[in-house]
Amino acid sequence: MDPKEKLIIALDVDTKEKALSLVDTLKGDVKYFKIGLELFASCGPSIIRDISRTGCQIFLDLKLHDIPNTVSKAAINVTSPGIFMLNVHALGGYEMMKKAADSVRQEADRTKIAHPKIIAVTILTSMDEMTLKKAGISDTMDSEVLRLAGLAKEAGLDGVVASPLEVKLLRKTFGNTFLIVTPGVRPKWAASGDQKRIATPAEAIACGASYIVVGRPVTEAADRKEAVRKILEEMKT
Ligand code: C5P
Repeated sequence: MDPKEKLIIALDVDTKEKALSLVDTLKGDVKYFKIGLELFASCGPSIIRDISRTGCQIFLDLKLHDIPNTVSKAAINVTSPGIFMLNVHALGGYEMMKKAADSVRQEADRTKIAHPKIIAVTILTSMDEMTLKKAGISDTMDSEVLRLAGLAKEAGLDGVVASPLEVKLLRKTFGNTFLIVTPGVRPKWAASGDQKRIATPAEAIACGASYIVVGRPVTEAADRKEAVRKILEEMKT
């Protein structure tokens, strides 16, 4: 296993300069970068092309959630520069997910670019059963995640975003070709922050994660390059 093929670094910064500097520092060791809401909201869609030009691939973490027509049109627009992966919220429902995935693939065929992976967020890794309950969902975390992942698969999505704690169950239920992308990854030497359902890089990979997403343990490290190298080493074990 080449750990570089499984590591996504979250560019959770608020300016183009900071994002490009981070990419520049890490691009020898990192192939995939995640653009999230913070960066997208401050720089606009042009940041997608700016990062693409460095030769790195982009996971656009916008967690789209709206009516099917709006989500599918937004999804077409944001994937048109040729990104690697986009996500939507599974709680948006079957029709929203299906229309988004179908429209993006049709548009990619029309413009002759590779199909971006479309994946669904099940339950945010910052939520636990208590926060779910407060939001009116009284099912257990596992059954809620399984149900939403099943819905995503049925809608033709490529996979899901899920916490490391659900990876094993998802892998067993949905097989080897279903992508499982896991944030909430914390090496032993890093602080957990607001993430509640966490695992180390090695644990997440061992459980069957296709990709792990790491943000603050790298972006807030005194030596970011060294932090990435330690994570890549850990993934190998
Ligand atoms: O800093 P940290 O490693 O917690 O960053 C995790 C990244 O993954 C953040 O950008 C966060 O928005 C994102 N994410 C998440 N949980 C999800 C989906 C994405 O934490 N379910």
